[in-house]
Amino acid sequence: MPTLHWIGKEKVINHHLDVPYRVLDHQYGFENGVKKSEATNSGNKIIHGDNLEALKSLLPEYEGKIKCIYIDPPYNTGNENWVYNDNVNDPKIKKWLGSIVGKEAEDLTRHDKWLCMMYPRLKLLHKLLADDGAIFISIDDNEQASLKLLMDEIFGCNNVISSLVWRRRASSQMSQNNISVDHEYIVTYFKSLNSKFRGIKKDYKNYSNPDKDSRGEWTLGDLTVGMTKDQRPNQYFDLVDPDTGRIFKPSQRRVWTFSPETMEVKILEKRVVFPKSNTGQPMMKRFISELKSDINPLSSWINSESYSVGLNSEGTKIIQHIFQDKVFDYPKPNSLIELLLSQVLESNDLVLDSFAGSGTTAHAVLNLNKQDGGNRKFILIEMEEYAQTITAERVKRVINGYGSAGSPQAEGTRGSFDYYELGPALFNDDNEINELVGVEKLRQYIYYTETKSTLSSSKGGIYIL
Ligand SMILES: C[S@@+](CC[C@H](N)C(=O)[O-])C[C@H]1O[C@@H](n2cnc3c(N)ncnc32)[C@H](O)[C@@H]1O
Repeated sequence: MPTLHWIGKEKVINHHLDVPYRVLDHQYGFENGVKKSEATNSGNKIIHGDNLEALKSLLPEYEGKIKCIYIDPPYNTGNENWVYNDNVNDPKIKKWLGSIVGKEAEDLTRHDKWLCMMYPRLKLLHKLLADDGAIFISIDDNEQASLKLLMDEIFGCNNVISSLVWRRRASSQMSQNNISVDHEYIVTYFKSLNSKFRGIKKDYKNYSNPDKDSRGEWTLGDLTVGMTKDQRPNQYFDLVDPDTGRIFKPSQRRVWTFSPETMEVKILEKRVVFPKSNTGQPMMKRFISELKSDINPLSSWINSESYSVGLNSEGTKIIQHIFQDKVFDYPKPNSLIELLLSQVLESNDLVLDSFAGSGTTAHAVLNLNKQDGGNRKFILIEMEEYAQTITAERVKRVINGYGSAGSPQAEGTRGSFDYYELGPALFNDDNEINELVGVEKLRQYIYYTETKSTLSSSKGGIYIL
């Protein structure tokens, strides 16, 4: 299998093993529209901190238990003027790279830096994903090719599903070289190929039964196939309406679906519908009762026509509606994340988003739960200070309902979550137990390291370490 090499790779390849286990310090719970000091134990978590350490802290409780991961890491466009830094020049990440890669870090290109940043995080995400889980990663052309090779190495080249393509804007944008890149990718892998997507439920709105056919509701379908007269000479013939004697010819580039013999049977079975007027072609009755499956596969081409999935502008409008201000650049549209999550999550499953930004993933989970009364759960991780003022604040407003004079009120979804900061490490620099973390957390950590399973909390539902 081809593998990707870059400067600094050997320094990060096992780095996830050295990341300290830190405890998650509960800050507050949010339930029934009210902030409180006790934990809600809802299973919904927002964690403020670098995702490398936060992911490591989640391992004792969540290894192999996360059904779906959606991440939207910085695309490495080089743009540093957004509310987050869209390359790897954020001071925290710069410091981290300097300490892990050492002096070499000064020579890294932005692509080397991005790969060094992603590798150990993807290793931890792989551990956290359930055996029947799926991971979706939004990315654009800056790093798509590198990401694909990285994912092949960590998740296995056999487990790749696709790079889904999402249409992100409608109108084209001028560029120096006269190309408007209007799409992004969603690199998608399963943990193992035992998994599958739910697919898209077929829409039966075009089916009816005006002639009271005993086979039930039907719709008209094409009676031709995309083969030429030369490819299928047997299917290129005059088709005669037995009631009127009118003759119909297929096109030379699209012959009839059936041979003359089979067509005769279909006519006798009253499956062929001839046009009443002088225009139109014969069509085929297709019955719901005879469909092989009631789902269509998810298409890898995602846009507003295929799945009513919005553009970037939908995400921006939602943020504007919630905050009355454009507080975040390029949030993903809810409809995109809802589509992806609903392909994987059962109604009690858990999704993790470790590059949470404005919290679109939580919003999508709360919307899906509101629609069907489910109890899907989310864990969000966000490194910047706005974890509190944008990420968690958005989730609160979505739970409570939002809108103001001049913008329509969005009804609250209901729900709750707990907010955490990264706390002290379980071990100090001399590898001695840090007593400050408390007995309960140590007990859970030791249980996990010995058994690789989770010790349920004895009291108060402490869900960390
Ligand atoms: C592209 S934005 C995600 C946008 C999000 N999908 C939304 O719809 O709002 C990437 C986010 O990841 C955060 N981030 C980058 N590096 C991180 C790290 N090491 N740990 C946690 N968050 C990080 C950035 O601060 C930024 O908010």
